[in-house]
Amino acid sequence: MTIKIAKRAGIPPFLVMEVMRAANARVAAGEAVYHLEVGQPSTPAPAAVIAAARAALDADPLDYTEALGIPELRAAIAGHYRAKYDLDLAPERVVVTTGSSGAFVLAFLAAFDPGDRVVLALPGYPGYRHIVTALGLVPLSLETGPATRFQPTPELLDRIAGSIDGLIVASPSNPAGTMLTPAALAALAGYCSDRGIRLISDEIYHGITFGRRAATVAALSDDAVVVNSFSKYFSMTGWRLGWMIAPPDLARAIECLAQNLFISPPTLAQRAAVAAFDCRAELDANVARYARNRALLLRELPKAGFDDLAPADGAFYIYADVSRLTDDATAFCRRMLAETGVAATPGIDFDPGRGDRFVRFSFAGASEDMAEAARRLRAWRGGRGTGGDGGS
Ligand SMILES: Cc1ncc(COP(=O)(O)O)c(C=O)c1O
Repeated sequence: MTIKIAKRAGIPPFLVMEVMRAANARVAAGEAVYHLEVGQPSTPAPAAVIAAARAALDADPLDYTEALGIPELRAAIAGHYRAKYDLDLAPERVVVTTGSSGAFVLAFLAAFDPGDRVVLALPGYPGYRHIVTALGLVPLSLETGPATRFQPTPELLDRIAGSIDGLIVASPSNPAGTMLTPAALAALAGYCSDRGIRLISDEIYHGITFGRRAATVAALSDDAVVVNSFSKYFSMTGWRLGWMIAPPDLARAIECLAQNLFISPPTLAQRAAVAAFDCRAELDANVARYARNRALLLRELPKAGFDDLAPADGAFYIYADVSRLTDDATAFCRRMLAETGVAATPGIDFDPGRGDRFVRFSFAGASEDMAEAARRLRAWRGGRGTGGDGGS
């Protein structure tokens, strides 16, 4: 007799992982690969974090912690909001999680019931759509484009037929790298508060911005869930640690869910992360490298025919409209990797409807790799101009 498999098990793969697999196969075969597909820092955790982890390994039994995280880390996160955003947060609203991914699961479970309708902007981080779907919620895709800097607006939300229970925003966003101005963010927060819509603000790329600072929704609304992570600015991706600023009305539900679903976030990572907030110089040096990489790619990519680029306000991505080069970005990326060794991510992960016309370049890697990748892309596209096919 066939045994049932849940429908949610049919969730699509995260395709960037498959690009990374193809790139790694090339590396294993001894060929050069320039990793412009990765969505993570190429640097290790700050030295003081690693030292704190070593000390904790020697001295600490590394038991379960409180479900909401160790008090020292929660206090350090609250201190971060004071220092960075001039915001006093009640420490009991700070919830340490297993990456921002863990925070999304907790927030969605606490805020929504199965069948609730949650708006997410396309292009967007695919995890939102897939977590929402896996939890039995209904993702409402909101197509955005250059006219709104690939971000949702109240006007776009007004066009959605039927009720809305939640809205996810990300500023800076992945893959477009665009930011909402503080006024635009406030307009969205006000829209949601007025209509009883739960706003979830993914602030994972805060700290990685070029020229202007990102505003936090925590300063605008106590009803919103603010999610952040140690994975990007803090360069602690594999440590699997994030946090959330929980709205007071959800805080207890989130605590009970966290106790039962995860018991506690990783203890070693928590002990180490307390030191992360004192590592500004090291972390800001990473951001300075991202800024140099960004400038290089913004200068060089157009010379290789990638001349329709989203404004890269923050994060470490450049989202290129490649519709003049191909109508199949996945095949285009496969061929680009095979012929140049440059790995990039086809847009289809981020926008199932229109992503075949887009490619995401990540500039999180080493500057030398960016320079060599740009040189290879220029050579590859050389002679083909911007009108060549490139896509088969
Ligand atoms: C926009 C965005 N949100 C959330 C995540 C998940 O990150 P983590 O679970 O490592 O915090 C990512 C990862 O790339 C991301 O790009």
